[in-house]
Amino acid sequence: MIAITGASGNIGSKITADLLAQRQKVRCIARTSENLKNLSAKGAEITAISLDDTAALTKAFKGVEAVFAMIPSNYQATDFIGFQNVIGESIAEAVKASGVKYIVNLSSQGAHLPDKTGPIKGLHLQEKRLNKLKGVNILHLRPTYFMENLLETIDMIRQMNIMGSALRGDMEIPMIATRDIAGFAAERLLKKDFSGTPVKDLLGQRDLSLNEAAEIIGKKIDKPGLRYVQFSYEDTEKALVDMGFSPDVAGLFNEMSQAINEGLVNVPRTRENTTKTTFEEFAVTFSKIFFA
Ligand SMILES: NC(=O)c1ccc[n+]([C@@H]2O[C@H](COP(=O)([O-])OP(=O)(O)OC[C@H]3O[C@@H](n4cnc5c(N)ncnc54)[C@H](OP(=O)(O)O)[C@@H]3O)[C@@H](O)[C@H]2O)c1
Repeated sequence: MIAITGASGNIGSKITADLLAQRQKVRCIARTSENLKNLSAKGAEITAISLDDTAALTKAFKGVEAVFAMIPSNYQATDFIGFQNVIGESIAEAVKASGVKYIVNLSSQGAHLPDKTGPIKGLHLQEKRLNKLKGVNILHLRPTYFMENLLETIDMIRQMNIMGSALRGDMEIPMIATRDIAGFAAERLLKKDFSGTPVKDLLGQRDLSLNEAAEIIGKKIDKPGLRYVQFSYEDTEKALVDMGFSPDVAGLFNEMSQAINEGLVNVPRTRENTTKTTFEEFAVTFSKIFFA
C-alpha cells in the first residue's frame, strides 16, 4: 500500500492513476471525498482528512510502504508560512509515529535557499524538518514552475485577451508538466530505490520565456496574436487581494516572482534533471481546457 497526500491535486491524482494502472494498492488522502470519487471508482482507498489532524494522518500512514507527502496551498492564510509549518509538523509527526520508512516529499526549486523566496521558504523548512527524522529515507523532489500554473490565466485571456503575471516575459525559465513530476514520483514510490535524504531537481523538457509560451498557446486556442504582459509587483499584489488572496500570500507570491525574475531560484539544466513533456504537448491540454 502506498499513501498519497494531495491525492485530488495536479500531482497526487496523476501519481495515483499511474500506480493504479500498475495494479498497486493506493490510499488517497485529501479533505474532500467528492473530489476523490473517480480514483475510488478505479480502486483506490479513500481517506478524507485534513493534514493538520496528526492522529488521523498517523492512522492513514500506518502499515504503508511509502508516502507521497506534500504541503498544499491556502491562499486565504493570514500567515502562510505558519500554515505550512503546521501541516509540515503534522506530516513529520505522522511519519515518525506510523513508522513508515520511505517518503517522496514534494518540495520546489529554490528550496535550497533559506528565505526571500516567498512560499518556497516553507518547503525549505519542511526539507530540514523531515531530514531530522531518524531511519527514514526521504527523497525531496524539487520541481520547477508548473506549466499548469498558466491555466490560471484562462479567465484573463477570455476577459482581456492577454496572459500576464509579475514574472518577466523575456527571460527563459524552466517549466515542467505535472505529469512528469507524477511519473517520476510514482516510479520512486514503487521502487523505493533511494536511501538517506537525497534531492532531485526536475526542470521539465526545456527553458522558454513566457512571451514564447503565450505565442505557442495563442496558436493552439485560435488567438495567434496572444501576448504575455508583465505586471508590476504593486498591481499584482492588488489584483491577488481583489481575487481573495490574503495580503500575506499576495506579498509572498511577489517575493517568489522577484526571486525568479532575478534568476536566484533555479539550478543549471542537466540531462538528469530534464524531463519529457514539451510545452507544445501541454498547449494541447491547455486548449482542451480552454475550449471545454
Ligand atoms: N505551482 C508551482 O509552480 C510549484 C512549483 C514547485 C512546487 N510546488 C508545490 O506544489 C504544491 C501543489 O501541488 P499540486 O499542484 O499537485 O496541488 P493542488 O492541485 O493545488 O492540490 C492540492 C491538494 O491538496 C489537498 N488539500 C488541500 N488542503 C488540504 C488539507 N488541509 N488537508 C488535506 N489535503 C488538503 C486538496 O484536496 P482538498 O481540497 O479536497 O483537501 C488537493 O488534493 C504547492 O503547494 C507547492 O508546494 C508548486
